[in-house]
Amino acid sequence: MFHLVCGIIGFCTLSKTPLAQSPGSVLFKGLKRLEYRGYDSAGVAGVYQGKLIVLKGKGKLDELEEKIRLSSVRGYTVIGHTRWATHGIPNDVNAHPQTDCRNEIAVVHNGIIQNYRELRQFLVERGHVFESDTDTEVIPHLVEEFYREFNDLYTAFKQAIKMLKGSYAIAMVSTIEPDKIFFARKDSPLVIGLGNGYNFVASDIPAFLEYTNRVIIVYDDEIGYITSTNVFLENIGSGVVDWSKRVRVVEWSIEDASKSGYPHYMLKEIMEQPRALRDTLYGLLSDVVVDEAVSILLNSRKVFITAAGTSFHASLYYSLLSSILLGKPVIPFIASEYMVYSPIASSGDTLIVVSQSGETIDSLMALRAFKKKGVRVIAVSNVVDSAIPRESDVALYTRAGPEIGVAATKTFTTQVLLLTFLALKQGSSIGRFSESEYREYIGLLKKVPEFSREVLASTEDIVKELAKWLSRKKSIYYLSRGIGLPIAMEGALKLKEIAYIHAESYPAGESKHGPIALVEKDFPVLFVIPPIDYLEELLLGNIQEMKARGATIICVLSEKSNLIDQCHYPIKTPHTHWLLTPFTHTIPLQLLAYYTAVVKGLDPDKPRNLAKTVTVE
Ligand code: G6P
Repeated sequence: MFHLVCGIIGFCTLSKTPLAQSPGSVLFKGLKRLEYRGYDSAGVAGVYQGKLIVLKGKGKLDELEEKIRLSSVRGYTVIGHTRWATHGIPNDVNAHPQTDCRNEIAVVHNGIIQNYRELRQFLVERGHVFESDTDTEVIPHLVEEFYREFNDLYTAFKQAIKMLKGSYAIAMVSTIEPDKIFFARKDSPLVIGLGNGYNFVASDIPAFLEYTNRVIIVYDDEIGYITSTNVFLENIGSGVVDWSKRVRVVEWSIEDASKSGYPHYMLKEIMEQPRALRDTLYGLLSDVVVDEAVSILLNSRKVFITAAGTSFHASLYYSLLSSILLGKPVIPFIASEYMVYSPIASSGDTLIVVSQSGETIDSLMALRAFKKKGVRVIAVSNVVDSAIPRESDVALYTRAGPEIGVAATKTFTTQVLLLTFLALKQGSSIGRFSESEYREYIGLLKKVPEFSREVLASTEDIVKELAKWLSRKKSIYYLSRGIGLPIAMEGALKLKEIAYIHAESYPAGESKHGPIALVEKDFPVLFVIPPIDYLEELLLGNIQEMKARGATIICVLSEKSNLIDQCHYPIKTPHTHWLLTPFTHTIPLQLLAYYTAVVKGLDPDKPRNLAKTVTVE
């Protein structure tokens, strides 16, 4: 799975190659090639005449080029980075590279170090001084620490890597061994590019494709270094790797490569969900801010939750969870309708604003109106320090990585995961469930990445077939009940957005009060069926009502459901606890919308009339 949080590039070159004429410009061009991944700050480091040069700051590459001339970095061993903030706001100090106390070691990192707090404390106790709020900064200090002990840089690097928990792609340069870039990978992409008199490391092939198309994909738990003429690669557990058999020649264009081989960003982002969900969960497990949010919520009179589009469906889901799990009402409303709700809010209340971009104007206006009433605000966003988190009292972050496809996919499931975690924490704080029940719930959430991987693998083929049939339809209903309803709403929205098919979601029980009038032979009706017995029983009645009118029934349901035989097209998902329904049942609906658009010859990444972030009212 590919990781789209930050971009890394680095290379070592001999003094005689074309790259050596202006290494800074080559590096800068490489960074520009990584721009599509999304970023908020950038930086470079080079080892030149025995000294480390580091240039970095907040802002876009062109702005930074103007301000601090990133491309002026010198040296034949250089690394660069585009940062998309996950720990620590985007600012100059938090930009990468991060360095050690003596300014001899510079590190760029993509991913999340889950245990960085413990490591930081361990290092502070040994006298290390930290400058940034990043998780990354522990890495150069760890290497510095172990270098003191082992007096060998690669051994120190390896030792440091062994201490890290989390996901990472890392590149490191140092004045101690100026001709090497050290690298390591776990769950974040990293590739090596083999040149003639130069070698690259990068998080993605486009960064260096102009200079070489001979690549080695670095695997998880691999570590090593490059020089201008050599590559050393080993598995951290099992030792040296003969990489010569792994060299691949890439025939793709730069554009293809930035989609990591997928035809569209949307499919890539759907497929990235296991990684996005895992990073989000582990980010939350080590985030003390969640406790602050929980305490605000527990001390609130009324709680509101608001958002637009897909984020509203995640919000609606949270309001249902709050009723079911906590017995506490939460008032959900569509952000652009805030004027109806802000008059009933007052100080002592809390508003949760959910926005993946953190910039949607409707959600921002709702936030401001509620703030004026003295309401405390908790933001849920995927973009650190964007407008909505900035104006909120507390900000919680999903760690999906930038989403480029206009239709939200991985940001939705990660929002739901975050909000589920929040509800569980609230429940445990007020004693709604015992400590062991809480642990069981968290254990379930830890299985979400694996379940989502299984769903992707088991539903893609059947959904592809179904898409051919659906692409010829003009209209479809998405029906469900209870916690299934926001999922049905999200499924319908996806299909509308990118396949331009009229898709209406409705509470299944309510469909007999109007929508059923349109149902005739072969009319498609899709049921989202959560693995909850009493909902299954009720939905069986609704399926029969629709079938009696000739509808074609599609169901997303557990592989153990009793309703499989009732459906013309069952999309079976791995059986699990109902709490995981948004993950098991949403993913096939995302795929269905995607493949239907593709069959219709539409570009799912750029649906007509829609924008990724809507900043006008
Ligand atoms: C736009 C996008 C939707 C998105 C909505 C809310 O309409 O096209 O995909 O769900 O904005 O965006 P937000 O960034 O606030 O979650």
